[in-house]
Amino acid sequence: MHKHHRALGLAATPSGTRGGADIAKQKPVQPVTLLRPHAARRAARFFVEKFPGRSLYAVKANPSPDLLQILWDSGVTHYDVASIGEVRLVRETLPEAVLCFMHPVKAEEAIAEAYFDHGVRTFSLDTLEELDKITAATATDGVAASDLNLLVRLRVSSDHAKLSLAAKFGADPHDVKPLLMAARQASDALGICFHVGSQAMSPAAYAEAMTRVRAAIVEAAVTVDIVDVGGGFPSWYPGMEPPALETYFAVIHAAFEDLPISYSAELWCEPGRALCAEYSSIVVRVEKRRGDELYINDGAYGALFDAAHIGWRYPVELLRDEPSHVRPMAFSFYGPTCDDLDHMAGPFELPGDVKAGDYLEIGMLGAYGSAMRTGFNGFGATHTEIVADEPMASLYTAVQPRRSNVVTL
Ligand SMILES: Cc1ncc(COP(=O)(O)O)c(C=O)c1O
Repeated sequence: MHKHHRALGLAATPSGTRGGADIAKQKPVQPVTLLRPHAARRAARFFVEKFPGRSLYAVKANPSPDLLQILWDSGVTHYDVASIGEVRLVRETLPEAVLCFMHPVKAEEAIAEAYFDHGVRTFSLDTLEELDKITAATATDGVAASDLNLLVRLRVSSDHAKLSLAAKFGADPHDVKPLLMAARQASDALGICFHVGSQAMSPAAYAEAMTRVRAAIVEAAVTVDIVDVGGGFPSWYPGMEPPALETYFAVIHAAFEDLPISYSAELWCEPGRALCAEYSSIVVRVEKRRGDELYINDGAYGALFDAAHIGWRYPVELLRDEPSHVRPMAFSFYGPTCDDLDHMAGPFELPGDVKAGDYLEIGMLGAYGSAMRTGFNGFGATHTEIVADEPMASLYTAVQPRRSNVVTL
């Protein structure tokens, strides 16, 4: 993964001691992905030590094998996988990891391969049809498996989240009782799970979802062994400054303690974004300026999918030897492809004298950034560098976000 440095003339510089400004000095022609293993390690330790239950990593947020290894080494033993590709990847990278197949709509062949070839025992579902599929795919010579952990996914509101996950998956209240009763019959351990939407800006999201869990358990009158509160834990972005993660954990813990479940029931969560947002950023070059529009060498088909398609804003910083003292102004970005859609509206605040040839760091791209990268139009190649400086913002340290570079419009 880190084999391309020579093309940048970076190989001679020892890795692990620099930040984005040092990378910019090398004048890289391609975008450079900066990796901060220390930041991912810190996030993982935070969840492992402070979440009042088990933390699964949602692999889709960033499936990099290097990151998976960092999380494993930091104590994350369980992984939320959503496709057979993710099952194979994590099994290959972390042979001892526990894999939980948490996509509620799976191919029967994928379930069978996960169960028989990769030791997966935990599956989510939100319909009786999916339950039938799981029991059929995991049976041996017509005998049903007796070691399944089945988690029924409830539909809950995404009202507190920046990205909704409320439309596509989740059983509605009137379908939950029969589903829980049938899943109880087919499972060794029965669970309930939900997802409050990504980047949930208030712990109330979890409190409200837990009232749905309580109602479902009371109505179905089944023994529940696992309550999985899903992902949705936020990171820090301009205009999205969430409360401390401890407040989320406290609300979840109190709601869990209040559920009519056995003493030995387990509490799980499945953070994606919160575990890896701080892990990486990119250094890009400005290829052209047109008024308040900057043409940069990464974009919608690269690591900036969310910036283009859902208007997500990221912190930005101008990387120059001498800091500019020109008043900041708001810019939008165009990416490198020939496509008008390759446009990131921002606004991104940078000194008013930014010009072609300048380098920028775009921060907090570890989650749903490089994971979305394509090679469309011949772009998409990046180099990677491990750096030792702090991410542009952090929910895990007292480090203040680099606010001078953050839009305050
Ligand atoms: C089932 C499931 N769990 C966890 C996650 C991770 O969510 P987040 O990155 O918001 O923590 C997702 C994201 O789509 C998901 O679908």
